[in-house]
Amino acid sequence: MTILDILHYPDKRLRTVAKPVEKVDDTIKKLVDDMFETMYTAPGIGLAATQINVHLQVIVIDVSEDKTQPLCLINPEIIAEEGIESCDEGCLSVPDIYETVERSEKVTVKALDQNGDEYTLQANELLAVCIQHEMDHLQGKLFVDYLSPLKFQRIKKRLLKAQREASQPAVL
Ligand code: NI
Repeated sequence: MTILDILHYPDKRLRTVAKPVEKVDDTIKKLVDDMFETMYTAPGIGLAATQINVHLQVIVIDVSEDKTQPLCLINPEIIAEEGIESCDEGCLSVPDIYETVERSEKVTVKALDQNGDEYTLQANELLAVCIQHEMDHLQGKLFVDYLSPLKFQRIKKRLLKAQREASQPAVL
């Protein structure tokens, strides 16, 4: 398995809208394996293919404490949602930023698994938040897009500063 590079905000490639997967073949299965490896290594609880510069509708998630509940969603579609909840969110593509976002409290999602079989899942709490966050990535949307312009400007400054510092050579 391969650990893939994760794109970071403000990389414009994160704004790409992902296409549906036409066939869950060996290439897609390998992609899913690599995405799990990348997500667990990061570590994170969810990763969308957009974040590793593959613009197909593929998501991996594991919200369990002990990393034993891998969930793969290919071509996900929300078929029902209810309620509203606020949750602090972070993102592997927007490091060190945690902000409260409002999402649907419960979602029912239809997707294909890693073998190409269709399933339906009812999710609430963290899993519901995570599914909505990752599905946004497939639409080129980031959680910071939900913040007020003022808050967003403040965060943007911090992010750009962190990025400049990271790209500077180490002073020895
Ligand atoms: Ni994210």
